[in-house]
Amino acid sequence: MLSESRFIKACRREMTDATPLWFMRQAGRYMPEYRAIRERISMLDAIRDPETSYTITMQPINAFNLDAAIIFADILTPLIGMGIKLDFIKGEGPQIENPLRTTRDIDMLGTPPADETMPFAMEAIRLAVADLTPRNIPLIGFAGAPFTLASYAIEGGGSKNYERTKAMMYSEPAAWKRLMEKLVTVVSDYLTRQVEAGASALQLFDSWVGAVGPYDFARFVAPYTKQIIEQAKKTGVPVKYFSTGTGTLLDQIKDLGSDVVSIDWRINLDKAWQEIGHDRAIQGNLDPLLLFAPWREVQAHTDEILRQANNRPGHIFNLGHGILPGTPVETVRRLTDYVHERTAVSSQLSVVGN
Ligand code: CP3
Repeated sequence: MLSESRFIKACRREMTDATPLWFMRQAGRYMPEYRAIRERISMLDAIRDPETSYTITMQPINAFNLDAAIIFADILTPLIGMGIKLDFIKGEGPQIENPLRTTRDIDMLGTPPADETMPFAMEAIRLAVADLTPRNIPLIGFAGAPFTLASYAIEGGGSKNYERTKAMMYSEPAAWKRLMEKLVTVVSDYLTRQVEAGASALQLFDSWVGAVGPYDFARFVAPYTKQIIEQAKKTGVPVKYFSTGTGTLLDQIKDLGSDVVSIDWRINLDKAWQEIGHDRAIQGNLDPLLLFAPWREVQAHTDEILRQANNRPGHIFNLGHGILPGTPVETVRRLTDYVHERTAVSSQLSVVGN
């Protein structure tokens, strides 16, 4: 049934009655109902409680006419089961108490199965899917890609220059390889379990991989990311690969083999799609900062993205990165409705008719 939903059809590059749309980080602090929940429960506890995770997952679905839900979790939670002590600090973001600094730290990491370390995630997916399926809305499962996960595990939090990560990569290539292989094991297993629990598509988040150049991407990153995508595709659901700042890596990203490539706003959608190949679907690519701009600018940029997509089947409208805290809720609603109206097949026909 969900294979007939707009979102899944677009992932498979089939014609849809309108362009599907969802937003990365669609559940989050810009929503008052999210902030209300987070006032009484910590980020980690919200993720670990299936009922809460399910409730937050549904908040944007109930508020806007979105074409996909994404399970409320975080790319960093799988690190906890591997032995990393993670917390989310208010106003600062993720913080790791025992970052990976030596090759021994890497060798001490475990690779336990997701069913043991994150049963709450699969339970939250089951709850969400039971609610979403009658509404014909697919659920996206997700995980972090190895480079982006390693960058947090090694730096101990967010980073600007990734100096420790790159130092490990260049100085200790064998340990880097072992770390990547452990992440491949954990992430592949987690993604597979999410599909078994009911996820209809998977997205691999590689938010910070734009920090490496083409030569290093080929040697230190791509082989591992590719293995995860290959494993994920065995589940049979569409697999999406998201990154930012990677306009110069698109030929290599194409070779990773995902069904959908998610791009940011730093590259034109038509140029990116041509480089990736029209045999793949594409997701993107509005700058999330535009949601703070006057409506005329939101509209102009949206029109430009849709012009570049050129009514080709296989475009999923999204931002180029996650929604930011402080984003006006009303703009999210207006944009959602605008994309649907502007791309509705009946309106395209009337344009042709004029
Ligand atoms: O709605 C959704 O998209 C699903 C939930 C989701 C979260 N994180 C919830 C979250 C998803 C898909 C993520 C992915 C994630 N987490 C990424 C990849 C996407 C991206 O934005 O690049 C990354 C890099 C992280 C790591 C992370 N988690 C950071 C850097 C932060 C702090 C920054 C911030 O926005 O606060 C988080 C915390 C986090 N993850 C929040 C949410 C809703 C905010 C927590 C809060 O204070 O309530």
